[in-house]
Amino acid sequence: MNQIGALKTASLRPQTLDVERVRSEFPALQQKVHGKPLVYLDNGATTQKPNVVIETLERYYYLDNANVHRGVHELSERATEAYEGARKSIRAFLNANSEKEIIYTSGTTESINLVAYSYGIENVKAGDEVLITEMEHHSNIVPWQMLCERAGANLKVAPMNDKGELILEEYEKLLTPRTKLVGMVHVSNALGTINPVKQMIKMAHAVGAVTVVDGAQAVAHIAIDVRDLDCDFFAMSSHKVYGPTGIGVLYGKQHLLEKMAPFQGGGDMIEYVSFAKTTFNQLPYKFEAGTPHIAGAIGFESALSYVKQLGLGVISAHERGVLQYATQRILAIPGIRIIGTAKLKCSILSFTLEGAHPSDIGTILNYQGVAIRTGHHCAMPVMQHFNLPGTARASFGLYNSRGDVDVFIAALEKARQMLV
Ligand code: ALA
Repeated sequence: MNQIGALKTASLRPQTLDVERVRSEFPALQQKVHGKPLVYLDNGATTQKPNVVIETLERYYYLDNANVHRGVHELSERATEAYEGARKSIRAFLNANSEKEIIYTSGTTESINLVAYSYGIENVKAGDEVLITEMEHHSNIVPWQMLCERAGANLKVAPMNDKGELILEEYEKLLTPRTKLVGMVHVSNALGTINPVKQMIKMAHAVGAVTVVDGAQAVAHIAIDVRDLDCDFFAMSSHKVYGPTGIGVLYGKQHLLEKMAPFQGGGDMIEYVSFAKTTFNQLPYKFEAGTPHIAGAIGFESALSYVKQLGLGVISAHERGVLQYATQRILAIPGIRIIGTAKLKCSILSFTLEGAHPSDIGTILNYQGVAIRTGHHCAMPVMQHFNLPGTARASFGLYNSRGDVDVFIAALEKARQMLV
């Protein structure tokens, strides 16, 4: 596009989100649940999919379905082109240097496990340390625990305060020359806290540690620039950002990925196989054994392009407004305690209601058409910090409005009357 074209497009882009229009593009949101219009507030768990993503998946399976990198026939060429085209778009979305740095995985969890296995086994030895934070999801705790147990290394945990903010001075104290690897969540799924990851990465690099960012909850809300963050690895899932489930990406700096051994063995990740010896394919294929989730990758690209078109700045401003409104309204309900009151938060509202169990709240809300998540949110140590068995959590996406908040609050009032 020439400059004038680009300027015209920029000036045509709306500065606020047309929620009603956006909402109409998500078929799952048009239904009733228990006779009530669905109010979907479980976006932290997974997001709904817009028509454009569903149509992309449909078109692929209707017309282009074939295996990639293997066939000389038309369909295989089309599938390969779309699959590799998606990798290019994902590279651009993350501002990575090269497509070689974009490894397809099944999602954030597999991305982190890939690093723990392929990087960890070679580089983390007995007596070394792996540092994480107290607000990690289990998927950024357990792989490191498993690695440390295998290697005889020690897992260290940087604490948070009672607002759910990382205590940066404590984090800094725990960084030592023994720290080989630091795992950090960008946005806490249980609290909504946005961590100062750029600063944390810089501090980790100062002691020579390699950094892994769990970006699962960040990508739908914050524009990610891996080069600006200077992270060594960044893990993400498609389904948290309006794309299909079962597909995600590991971004890794090329020089690190080059030196790492493959994660899994099989087709596509090889260069030459004989019974005597196997040599491995170049990046990124070295880490992609077996037939990949081709439709998923193409659908993922389509979701990212949908989000990009709306603009992440516009989306996050909208979600911030919804979160502020929800916070103000929920605090007017007697007995409510918000868990996660960090200064910098994404659109996640975790709470308890005195005298009521979170799962009972969730059940009553469900009968009023409101979908939230309850429980420990795969972050048991966060619950342990607050001495709670679990919380109720409303997590807002780009299609949620203040009207949704009103329905949610009315349903919560009803739950309080029934339970307390
Ligand atoms: N990690 C997802 C959540 O927060 C499943 O709900």
